[in-house]
Amino acid sequence: MRSDQSFDATTAATPAIRTGPRMRFGAALAAAAFIAAACTPGTGTGAGTGVASAAGSGAAAGGYPERTINMVVPFAAGGPTDTVTRLVAEPMSQTLGQQIVIQNVAGAGGTLAAGQVAAAEPDGYTVLMHHIGMSTAPTLYDDLPYDPLEDFKMIGLVTEVPMTIIGAPDFEPDTMEELVAHVEENGDSVNYANAGIGAASQLCGLLFMSATDTTVTEVSYDGTGPAITDLLGGHVDFLCDQTTNTTEQIRAGEVKAYAITTPERNDALPDVPTTTEAGLPDLSVTVWHGLYVPGDTPDAIVQELSAALQAALTEQNVIDSFADLGTEPVAADQATPEAHRIKLESEIARWRPIIEAAGVSAD
Ligand code: MLT
Repeated sequence: MRSDQSFDATTAATPAIRTGPRMRFGAALAAAAFIAAACTPGTGTGAGTGVASAAGSGAAAGGYPERTINMVVPFAAGGPTDTVTRLVAEPMSQTLGQQIVIQNVAGAGGTLAAGQVAAAEPDGYTVLMHHIGMSTAPTLYDDLPYDPLEDFKMIGLVTEVPMTIIGAPDFEPDTMEELVAHVEENGDSVNYANAGIGAASQLCGLLFMSATDTTVTEVSYDGTGPAITDLLGGHVDFLCDQTTNTTEQIRAGEVKAYAITTPERNDALPDVPTTTEAGLPDLSVTVWHGLYVPGDTPDAIVQELSAALQAALTEQNVIDSFADLGTEPVAADQATPEAHRIKLESEIARWRPIIEAAGVSAD
């Protein structure tokens, strides 16, 4: 599924329902896989606009960019990856002096879009925003049509976002403890929404099942934007999604907020208890994001994009918007190709044995 410039048009995906295999992450995963990064939120405003328009500082050195840049989001509009992309695209556009058009290319847990960007012209006009799924896909997918380390150049890391476990308004459990008891009692008749194999929401669901020794039925969407739409409608029971996509609904009381997946409470959602408070310290996860271009993109263009990203992440309104959604930009030295590559390499290495031991596969 693909939609261009469609931030305001909620994408109603038809969910593919698959009965969740009893995929257990063992103690090794719980200990090693999801070590939460500290997030220090503050206050501020909400998400940005649809198409990032350039009115600012003019084209960068060397002639690039001379035309509109496409920034590809590998999940549906209205989800957390989409939100993060739109927050940084606007200021990057100002710095680069060209429009940045957001394209949602959803499918296969984010791998469809990544494959398309890997094969795109390496001219700096196709940029991918992706998250932790970039590091898990090589192990989850046997036939992945790209190598994350060989077929891309990294621009820089963007942010690392906590997740929240939330329920439909009429779903019976009111607390994390009640949720666990409910799932223990009702087993796989409980529906858990995610954004496909390799999505952060899927990983969090696996961690939930492992930590609680339960099995739920997974319902996959093209992104957690449409998944939350169905949650609000009571068509699925619960999900785990990034604070960038759940904070507003939690504050408005539109969903039941069971826990945040970090050891400490989050200033943006101070009333939401942590998974540690609920007795599930191993259910701990944050979701890192980064920008990519095709592997043969000239280094000068990579540097232009990285500089624009670094400038975006220091803008006060971006910092405030991130804080309002429970997260923060990475430090300046992390928004670089070098730091991003190190992170991706270490994350691929971290996930491979964990996923293999868990027996989880997309095939
Ligand atoms: C995920 O579960 O990986 C994300 O929430 C997908 C999305 O951005 O919609």
